[in-house]
Amino acid sequence: MSILIRGVQLYGEGDQVDVLVDDGQITEIGADLAVGEAEVIEASGQVLLPGFVDLHTHLREPGREDTETIETGSAAAALGGFTAVFAMANTNPVADSPVVTDHVWHRGQAVGLVDVHPIGAVTVGLEGKQLTEMAMMANGVGQVRVFSDDGHCVDDPLVMRRALEYATGLGVLIAQHAEEPRLTVGAVAHEGPTAAKLGLAGWPRAAEESIVARDAILARDAGARVHICHASTAGTVEILKWAKAQGISITAEVTPHHLLLDDSRLATYDGVNRVNPPLRENSDAQALRQALADGVIDCVATDHAPHAEHEKCVEFSAARPGMLGLQTALSVVVETMVVPGLLSWRDVARVMSENPARIAGLPDQGRPLEIGEPANLTIVDPDSTWTVSGSALASRSANTPYESMTLPASVTATLLRGTVTARDGKCPL
Ligand code: DOR
Ligand code: ZN
Repeated sequence: MSILIRGVQLYGEGDQVDVLVDDGQITEIGADLAVGEAEVIEASGQVLLPGFVDLHTHLREPGREDTETIETGSAAAALGGFTAVFAMANTNPVADSPVVTDHVWHRGQAVGLVDVHPIGAVTVGLEGKQLTEMAMMANGVGQVRVFSDDGHCVDDPLVMRRALEYATGLGVLIAQHAEEPRLTVGAVAHEGPTAAKLGLAGWPRAAEESIVARDAILARDAGARVHICHASTAGTVEILKWAKAQGISITAEVTPHHLLLDDSRLATYDGVNRVNPPLRENSDAQALRQALADGVIDCVATDHAPHAEHEKCVEFSAARPGMLGLQTALSVVVETMVVPGLLSWRDVARVMSENPARIAGLPDQGRPLEIGEPANLTIVDPDSTWTVSGSALASRSANTPYESMTLPASVTATLLRGTVTARDGKCPL
């Protein structure tokens, strides 16, 4: 099956060209290519990027299929321009054995909309005590490359040190949810003037920053790589800068919601705004944007976290933390980074595709837009706008914090190994 993408700008730069995709690969790039038998995607004035890679997605299968499944989450991912996602381990049962991680991989392949890479748990049952059999998961069908207890911090420094040492031997990555649990007991909102005024228990920046600093030092001494999930504070940015300057192998992601939103949103007590780590202050969001522009933060990851209505439409302190992110990620990155001139489209490819693919070690994603490369591609209309409606998203849940917001740019098509997985807002498979 061949596809001719007509009139796109590669990385939003240079002349409009046609791109021919055949047998899963880019086979020709040039002006006015012959159509032949190919299906044509008219994309005049649109931007061609490598397919996005999300290092941090909660798909809820197995265990909470009432809120998301691998199928509905894959559809949301494809519609959001993603060709690979990493499914977090906090499922039920926990993804702490190859039984679960292999299942997640198989199920993702059966759905066929996006490569669903399972993340394995670092500790058995996410309990922070006993390391999992990472080697068995890494060597299974699911080929687990990333391990995380996300939702829970690996807070015991000895367990974290051993996890880093074990992971280094295997060549896999530990992704840490940086939260010192002794500092977040009962916490539901960023510790600051807003939480104080609203009477909400505060989650200090130090809960995150103390673990980021500790893990940088543990990684240094173990000669290990460590990845920081959802960086949320200006102080974390400073620690990352310091650690990278020391030559420590540390990488970090930022979520779209921490780039765009801040704790001024909490005034309504709407549970949709509850998330871990919490929405911080505007000064933190500004520091995160600058850090992403400067490369101190390496990539964007959604932390897509579906929850049922009865878990979100409750008193703020009782609401489950987490927000949808897959279908809105690109638009929020455009709003916060491209529109203000902090990132070019070339940079968007770097932070949403190339860097996450490199961090996780995916050989076939985040590749250059060149002949002979796998056709994992995203086509974006940079000039369109759309208005977010949770009920219209492909997720089984509707907990978007962007309800009724009009956002710039939309994904018009996604191709996974040359197969169209999303087109004009629909999943054709
Ligand atoms: O807000 C969050 N939701 N943060 C996490 O770390 C976990 C996630 C979830 O699983 O819902
Ligand atoms: Zn987390």
